[in-house]
Amino acid sequence: MKTNFDTTVDRRNSNSIKWNRYPQDVLPMWVADMDFQAPPPVREALRKAVEHGVFGYEMPSAGLLAAVAARMDRLYGWKVEPEMVVAVPGLVSGFNAAAWTVCRPGEGIMMQTPVYFPFLKVHENAGLARQTAQLARQAQGSAIRYRVDWEAFKTAARPEVQTRLFLLCNPHNPTGQVYSRDDLSRMAEICEKNDIVICSDEIHSELLLDGAKHVPIATLSPETAARTITLVAPSKTFNVAGLSCGFAIIPDPDLRERYKKTVERLTMHVSSLGQVSAQTALSGACDGWLADLRGYLTANRDFLVEFVRQHLPGIRTTVPEATYLAWLDCSRLVEAGKIEGPPAKFFLEKAGVALNEGADFGPGGENFVRLNFGCPRSLLEEGLERMRGALN
Ligand SMILES: Cc1ncc(COP(=O)(O)O)c(C=O)c1O
Repeated sequence: MKTNFDTTVDRRNSNSIKWNRYPQDVLPMWVADMDFQAPPPVREALRKAVEHGVFGYEMPSAGLLAAVAARMDRLYGWKVEPEMVVAVPGLVSGFNAAAWTVCRPGEGIMMQTPVYFPFLKVHENAGLARQTAQLARQAQGSAIRYRVDWEAFKTAARPEVQTRLFLLCNPHNPTGQVYSRDDLSRMAEICEKNDIVICSDEIHSELLLDGAKHVPIATLSPETAARTITLVAPSKTFNVAGLSCGFAIIPDPDLRERYKKTVERLTMHVSSLGQVSAQTALSGACDGWLADLRGYLTANRDFLVEFVRQHLPGIRTTVPEATYLAWLDCSRLVEAGKIEGPPAKFFLEKAGVALNEGADFGPGGENFVRLNFGCPRSLLEEGLERMRGALN
């Protein structure tokens, strides 16, 4: 049976950050969670756990780690042993733990901007230097695309700045782009040459739109796998982010042991209900739901891209291949004085729509906004109409 994603769920009476940060009349299209219920098998597994009623300390079961490993094999033919999988409470803590494991104070990490904003804080959290390799933007009519600026990438990786860790975001938030195998191979090659460990945040890897394909960078070669910490989670795909459960896959035994020590030192425990939801979500029981979701999100993306083209002249948008995040370039309207001040502030005040401010995503994000289209079509339409009204 096809899942009905048109149903709206009232989230105002919950602790939702997305729905409670702004006044009641504001439509929230910012934080990256979806306004859909989790798949029925996940809700059923949680119901059973609640009925059991004992919520003591738990540890990741062999079945849970095996479910992660089996999913990697099923999706990518990637042979992951369950022992390579380390459970973490979330991927933000997962990539911070990678920095603490790999780098010593004064050494550096690199990332490609604009990027998911917690990446930008990792160096401060761990007393490190930060190198940013800005992605290059190309405009084609009302659409934009990004490509890797290889000179910037090599500069960020050069030995003089002691970069020890590359924090990769693939698929990329906020651009929604999926890196090609060629791009990933070139990144891996440069990292290998400079002895840089890769921490690849692949949280959006199952939110593929149309026929997009995801390549985990660790699958490129055994050498790349040996220098990579891959972070995956059911949180974005199955909309269970609040249950706090993710995984680091680390094939190299020495790197894995060091990472585990960091996880222990930071007491990064995973909640019992998070583990229940993850095991069911990754088991395959929700894959029909996921196929429906991808179809729905692809149609929402197409609707948004067409709406921007027709009704929001002056704004350009990415055409995401993955994620439910659109990245809107408002710079022409800012330059023309049609938008005064930072664009998310403008749309909040003039349209009653809450978006993420592009500048928060680091160099290259100025005058952009990020819009979350992981919601029923009716809400997406309303948000875009409000934005159109504010610009007219
Ligand atoms: C690239 C990326 N990594 C990590 C996260 C958050 O992960 P977690 O909630 O597991 O800490 C997000 C959430 O939007 C994200 O986009």
